[in-house]
Amino acid sequence: DVKIVTIGGGSSYTPELVEGFIKRYDSLPVRELWLVDIPEGQEKLETVGGLAKRMIKEAGLPIDVHLTLDRREALKDADFVTTQLRVGLLEARAKDERIPLKYGVIGQETNGPGGLFKGLRTIPVILDIVKDMEELCPNAWLINFTNPAGMVTEAVLRHSDWKKIIGLCNVPVGMKMGIADQLGVDPERIQIDFAGLNHMIYGLNVYLDGEIYTDQYIEKIASGDVSSGTMRNIVDLKWEPDFLKALQAIPCPYHRYYYKTSEMFEEESKAAAEEGTRAEVVQKLEKDLFELYKDEDLTIKPPQLEERGGAYYSDAACSLIDSIYNDRRDIQPVNTINNGAIASIPDDSAVEINSVITKEGPKPIAIGDLPVATRGLVQQIKSFERVAAEAAVTGNYQTALLAMTINPLVPSDIIAKEILDEMLKAHQEYLPQF
Ligand code: G6P
Ligand code: MN
Ligand code: MN
Repeated sequence: DVKIVTIGGGSSYTPELVEGFIKRYDSLPVRELWLVDIPEGQEKLETVGGLAKRMIKEAGLPIDVHLTLDRREALKDADFVTTQLRVGLLEARAKDERIPLKYGVIGQETNGPGGLFKGLRTIPVILDIVKDMEELCPNAWLINFTNPAGMVTEAVLRHSDWKKIIGLCNVPVGMKMGIADQLGVDPERIQIDFAGLNHMIYGLNVYLDGEIYTDQYIEKIASGDVSSGTMRNIVDLKWEPDFLKALQAIPCPYHRYYYKTSEMFEEESKAAAEEGTRAEVVQKLEKDLFELYKDEDLTIKPPQLEERGGAYYSDAACSLIDSIYNDRRDIQPVNTINNGAIASIPDDSAVEINSVITKEGPKPIAIGDLPVATRGLVQQIKSFERVAAEAAVTGNYQTALLAMTINPLVPSDIIAKEILDEMLKAHQEYLPQF
């Protein structure tokens, strides 16, 4: 019998996860689901927990749902721990998105200065959770969705003794579903060779029914037959066709911040002035979602949840847990230790890459190296993540400034320092290490 603990259980995304466990109950018999939150999240926890219980009852399954503010009580003898917490809540995300804009820099949840600060706030909390896990559930797997998922995985791998961590993101599955949808075929007929980093992953090849289809797909996007694909939270700006043909790989939606920096900055600034930054939009979406969740007659995941960027994330999470539990040895893209799978990335670093999922965890599939045109950016972001993780652990000001300055979205050391100082002040309450 499987015991799952979800930290940040009061999140609006929880019904996704519950739906995933219900769907897979036959192969993954979850008997206990513990939803954990902090006192500030208690109301949300009770609302979403109520919906979780109704969904399970409607499905007629014997899954016990426990709602608690006591993380240590919940963690005892867990098999899988999932983390989906947000330190400082959406208010902190809004600051991550707004402050950099004033300095002419992209303001984004997981990229640039925003990604750095989300990491600085989050990494100490995840390392604390890992400490509790060492004591209370040493055999459990930590499945982390908390962003920045790549940097968090990096920090746990390199700054703790805990090795059973897998970072998870819905971008690869989103790309696969998007391509299937554009081609009008069943997603099972599409395979993609994924490699890179979290929110910096490339589809190196696309296959349709096992036959290589990369050039034809790139041709389709280039000719405007299909959209280049995106997530709810990223505006669907088209790729320059000749760039895409030359790149010879499928970029992920987040690559727009790097290959279309000025256009994305314009879009963000316009949005911030008009409808608000993404966090501000999501605050409204969340309010509506929680109103829906309160409805005692609601017993399914409401379709409105698909307005969020995290669509399919429960599918990714539940298939991952199912494959570990059943030793399925199927291929899934996850964040895991590189171990030489990508030649130009350090062995001990986290990469996001297709992996064979076994009961001993993910075994990354070696690709040799990334194409030369993609390699440098990926290495630069990896350097940024490593320095950022070190800053999060040590609370060293100079290390944080170094991370900010080497981020490719930040144009100068002086601007880096200005942004850093303003953000350190704005987030002070959640940065006890500084
Ligand atoms: C994508 C990313 C997630 C991120 C989400 C944000 O799905 O992969 O890591 O959390 O977008 O969506 P939101 O609706 O909160 O903007
Ligand atoms: Mn260390
Ligand atoms: Mn993600």
